[in-house]
Amino acid sequence: MACHEFLLGLGDFEYVLTVVGLLYVAKVVLQGLWETINGVRAHFWSRLWDKRLVDTYGKWAVVTGCSDGIGKEYAKELAKRGMNIVLISRTLEKLQKVSSEIVQEYGVETEVVQVDFIDGRPIYEDIGKHLQDKEIGILVNNVGVMLSHPMEFELASEKDIWSHVNVNVASVPAMTKLILPGMLLRGKGAVINIASIAGCYPIPLMGIYAATKAFVDYFSQALEWEYRGSGITVQTITPAYVSTNMTKFSELIHKPSVFIPTAPTFVSSAINTLGYARRSSGYWAHGIQVYLVENFLNSWIFMYGNYMWNSLLLRNMKKNQAYQDFQY
Ligand SMILES: NC(=O)c1ccc[n+]([C@@H]2O[C@H](COP(=O)([O-])OP(=O)(O)OC[C@H]3O[C@@H](n4cnc5c(N)ncnc54)[C@H](OP(=O)(O)O)[C@@H]3O)[C@@H](O)[C@H]2O)c1
Repeated sequence: MACHEFLLGLGDFEYVLTVVGLLYVAKVVLQGLWETINGVRAHFWSRLWDKRLVDTYGKWAVVTGCSDGIGKEYAKELAKRGMNIVLISRTLEKLQKVSSEIVQEYGVETEVVQVDFIDGRPIYEDIGKHLQDKEIGILVNNVGVMLSHPMEFELASEKDIWSHVNVNVASVPAMTKLILPGMLLRGKGAVINIASIAGCYPIPLMGIYAATKAFVDYFSQALEWEYRGSGITVQTITPAYVSTNMTKFSELIHKPSVFIPTAPTFVSSAINTLGYARRSSGYWAHGIQVYLVENFLNSWIFMYGNYMWNSLLLRNMKKNQAYQDFQY
């Protein structure tokens, strides 16, 4: 039976329901197809092309929170592609170690800036002095903190509150404000903002972290829209779990796997998406997770699921601690 004959044979109510159902299926299929094409372009096609970052964006890259984890790998990957690096982070010895590794391995210039982003507004004058007279081509707003483990808000300390505000939130527009004017004058540059899948919906027991990442995501997407056509690329990266110090409180999210890449695996993928995706998870397996979360979950299901998941992580962490205490 042809489709139109089938539809004509239905009653009015069934007809309306069938058409609505078919339209919904068509929307899901087309959306899935579109996301798949974009995903393949960002994560696989992009790898085939040599990226001339210095020519496209400028000589120097600035990476915040670069002495460990994702930031350290961004600094190394950008240096590998010939960029000089301004390394901004908190612990001087770690900064110096990363700096000498980069100079030795890639033969580029580095400049070390030791600041604690918790200190807020006063640090940006000092950072600005280090950036003067440099052609900054790429800014990676990476620095971020998270609660030491999932917890109810009343257990978070004053320091937790101000570090989330000053490190995760304030640093992103403040660093961008320092660097964007120079990029606009030159008509080229890229700002990469590291948000998180955690910013897609609120997350109980990690509420303050998720809220700061929603800020980064929204700010970054708005910035991208404002500077389209100016020569400036603004990219938002929304990773899921990456095996770094941030996830070490529970082996369930620290042990590397296909869905929990190490920082080098994650960044070698994420860096290729620059210029190929305005907003990307950075890594193909995280792309599937973000797609499912944003298209098939609502905030209630996401919050319920994350409340249960964070409670499980907390129990797992306590069990491991009890085991370790028992060993000693
Ligand atoms: N890991 C994940 O699963 C994950 C998932 C999604 C998004 N992200 C985001 O990715 C970014 C990097 O996370 P990560 O996992 O690489 O974290 P990480 O391994 O804990 O590294 C954080 C880096 O930031 C520096 N830092 C922390 N607080 C600072 C402060 N107050 N002032 C200056 N520097 C400071 C640290 O310096 P020290 O060396 O001195 O500690 C370190 O270099 C964050 O924005 C995070 O929210 C991470």
